[in-house]
Amino acid sequence: MSSKQRSEFSRFGFIMAAAGSAVGLGNIWSFPSQVTQNGGAVFVLAYIILTVAIAYPALLVELSAGRHTQTNAADTFRKIDGAKRWIGVGYLGLICSAMILSFYSIVGGWMITYFCKSLFTLVGLETWANAIQQRVIIYDLTFTSLFYLLTILIITAGLKKGIETWSKILMPMLIILLVGLIAYVLTLDGAMIGLKKYLCPDFSKLLDFDLILNAMGQAFFSASLGGGAMLIYGSYLSKKQNLQKVGASVLVFDFSIAFLAGLLIMPAMYAASAKGISIFDEQGKLIEGGGVVFQVLPALFGSMGKVGHLVLAAFFLLMIIAALTSSISMLEGVVAYAVDNQYMNRKKASWVVGLMLWLVSVLLIVKFELLFGLFTKITMQVLIPGINIGLCILMGWILKRSKLIEEFRSGANLSEDALVLKILPIFFKYIIPIAVTFIWIRSFK
Ligand code: PHE
Repeated sequence: MSSKQRSEFSRFGFIMAAAGSAVGLGNIWSFPSQVTQNGGAVFVLAYIILTVAIAYPALLVELSAGRHTQTNAADTFRKIDGAKRWIGVGYLGLICSAMILSFYSIVGGWMITYFCKSLFTLVGLETWANAIQQRVIIYDLTFTSLFYLLTILIITAGLKKGIETWSKILMPMLIILLVGLIAYVLTLDGAMIGLKKYLCPDFSKLLDFDLILNAMGQAFFSASLGGGAMLIYGSYLSKKQNLQKVGASVLVFDFSIAFLAGLLIMPAMYAASAKGISIFDEQGKLIEGGGVVFQVLPALFGSMGKVGHLVLAAFFLLMIIAALTSSISMLEGVVAYAVDNQYMNRKKASWVVGLMLWLVSVLLIVKFELLFGLFTKITMQVLIPGINIGLCILMGWILKRSKLIEEFRSGANLSEDALVLKILPIFFKYIIPIAVTFIWIRSFK
């Protein structure tokens, strides 16, 4: 392992990079649909409670593990658990990150496709626009490769010049685009109905276990938990920083963007409905996910002339940025393993690992029906919760309590008997593992 001083993010750089990882397709693609389908404000409330009570301490587990060991997921287990009983879980963290990237980049590629399509239409290249819209393997391959290229190029540039610099540029851009789009959409006819539907609470869902299951899955995915991403960013966080505070800032940021995304998507859906575009499927359920992004929104804005295509291009740019700042954290998790172990320098590792994962994505594109759903299921239902429990065992049970306390006092100006220091180990040892196991078992029913 490298004995060199590990590169560190600045405080603002860390918050932008970690929030960039957290804010992704999960926030814009799935959060608004989850809210409307799971009881509106009731879901938001459950989401906030689960984020504060479970996802936040779980994020602290990952960040503290990375910062304490100053290394990647696999070596974190090796360093803390000398007996190496749990090292397999660390490798699963890397695999989880790699698997998410392999399907995430395909969706990222679709976003680039639709972005180009809106630009082509805007400048009058209709035939080009129509050609790339077809879901043909060659286009999926081309645009997924382009998405990989962007991800790899940022990672090769390193922590400061690559991840930090780009996160600091892209995240503010994302906010400006999002707020601008919301302001525009809210002026459209029908938008206000969508706004009401978005948050209208359905109290009959209050005791629905599926709601908790969905809120938990969403909270974990959105916070980028699963060992590969946040842990490695934690390893680049200076000991001078207050872990609890930066962790909280990241989640507040993540929730705010998800919530704001609903203020864009739902009013846009009902504005589309006001124009006669169908927003319900055959079962009468509101269209969600890909249907919203690739059918309803293009139909709505596509009918509005040049301004509409410009808005559509801005929307897909927003999606590309959200996806890219997440994908770099996934790739970094795996690249760091090769770099930390001095198998390769960063540049070479970024290309080698990037190309290997690109090959996996190619396989997913070719065998889409068989593999895409399987990969999402394995990561969300098995790996993310499983690794989380493994990390809780590592940090709560195997790491010496005094070391854990030291990690949380570092940069935090806390006295030895501060209340949080008594509470956190209880979360690490019991509350998160028990809650995650319980919800996990239920998810297989
Ligand atoms: N948090 C990202 C999103 O909401 C996804 C992600 C998961 C990123 C795991 C990194 C690691 O889209």
